[in-house]
Amino acid sequence: MSINIVVGGQWGDEGKGKIVDLLSADCDVVARYQGGANAGHTVIVNGEQFILHLLPSGILHPNVTCYIGNGVVVDPANLLQEIEFVESKNISVKDRLFVSGYAHVIFPYHMVLDQNKESDPSRFIGTTGRGIGPAYTDKVDRIGIRMLDLLHPDCLRHKISLNLQAKTEHLDEDSQKLESILEEFIQYGRQLKEYIADTSVLIHQDILNNRVILLEGAQGTLLDVDFGTYPYVTSSNPIAGSACVGIGIGPTQIDKVTGVMKAYSTRVGEGPFPTEFDDQFSERIREMGQEFGATTGRPRRCGWFDGVLARFSARINGLSELAITKLDVLDSLDSLKICTSYHLNGKEIDGHFTDMTVMQECEPIYETVPGWQKDTSTIRNYDELPQNAKKYIGRISELSGVPVKLISVGSERSQTILMNG
Ligand code: GDP
Ligand code: IMO
Ligand code: MG
Repeated sequence: MSINIVVGGQWGDEGKGKIVDLLSADCDVVARYQGGANAGHTVIVNGEQFILHLLPSGILHPNVTCYIGNGVVVDPANLLQEIEFVESKNISVKDRLFVSGYAHVIFPYHMVLDQNKESDPSRFIGTTGRGIGPAYTDKVDRIGIRMLDLLHPDCLRHKISLNLQAKTEHLDEDSQKLESILEEFIQYGRQLKEYIADTSVLIHQDILNNRVILLEGAQGTLLDVDFGTYPYVTSSNPIAGSACVGIGIGPTQIDKVTGVMKAYSTRVGEGPFPTEFDDQFSERIREMGQEFGATTGRPRRCGWFDGVLARFSARINGLSELAITKLDVLDSLDSLKICTSYHLNGKEIDGHFTDMTVMQECEPIYETVPGWQKDTSTIRNYDELPQNAKKYIGRISELSGVPVKLISVGSERSQTILMNG
């Protein structure tokens, strides 16, 4: 038995989908533990692109069992669409996809509330508009509706009705039509019944049966509602510590935590970003790295690799190893910068923030390193990487204090360099 958590080490979109798909070849089980359809995990196999929002990125491997854990918030329409999409590609999910009955459901009114909040400039976060924050709010407020409730129409009617009453002043008439919401969601319940299970019991059986398990994080460390750049964060805990809660296993079961980090930085939406490029350079890297959101299509903000935040991420997640992605995007640069520390009011600070908002006032201190100006996308062996690319990777490892296990040099499964050992 082994359990590996794969977690985003930055602000999301690090390439978790590619890495999870790749590692799934050696797994029996892949499970999502938090977030919802705000995630967009891209997997490209033989030129064919799959953008997965709710399905775990192991789904393309026919022998892998996939769970959507209790910590995830599920938009049933979205889930059904995704199931239909992968099945249209001749990938059957029958008897190998299970959704926790305890996972909370996203209703249309959650999306309306999310979008209403976003339209108020004083509360704007730049969310994905998928209703994630309001659905988690209801969960913590103990009025949320769970997947298992979709199987009990009378109880569902009562719960939706209570929710509409509680939210009535924030919703227009159209979003409050009890009968039509009820009818739609009872139908989802019927369609999803075969997938709803107690996934914590299933994963416990997997552990007893010595299965190889991967727990897939969504978003990234710096979007964590506790440890990220609050309030510019998502409404769940993407960090490794939350994987146990989000799937229902004990912390003593975890063997390894793999942090996925891009060889540079990106972020979508509002919030501090100390190493952000100026507009012109951001545009250049955005074009080279195709940095457009997989869920919303929004342009991603781009910046240099931030060693301070990588160290922070290593600490908060207890990272055992790193998977560095998108090295190839930097191939043409003649020199690169890496942020090694921050200065605040002229003094060096070590990244142990007592208040993440001070990040906004920090001046990043850079080290400039020479580029390699060679195409790395066809390289499959570490020894063949240009010397300067090796030095760059080495510096990332040194600054974060974590060994590099894998280097990704393209979006295809095969465009990967595995380190020895
Ligand atoms: P995730 O949310 O962490 O799964 O990442 P996304 O799928 O949102 O964004 C990562 C993007 O980078 C996707 O378009 C991937 O196909 C692409 N990608 C992943 N790894 C690499 C890589 O090593 N090189 C390049 N050029 N693209 C990559
Ligand atoms: P994956 O799993 C990047 C960002 C949004 C916004 C903030 C809050 O693909 O890495 P939300 O809709 O969650 O309330 O939005 O979080 N965000 C992501 N950014 N990758 C993601 O997921 C994200 N999911 C949410 O842009 O800034
Ligand atoms: Mg993404």
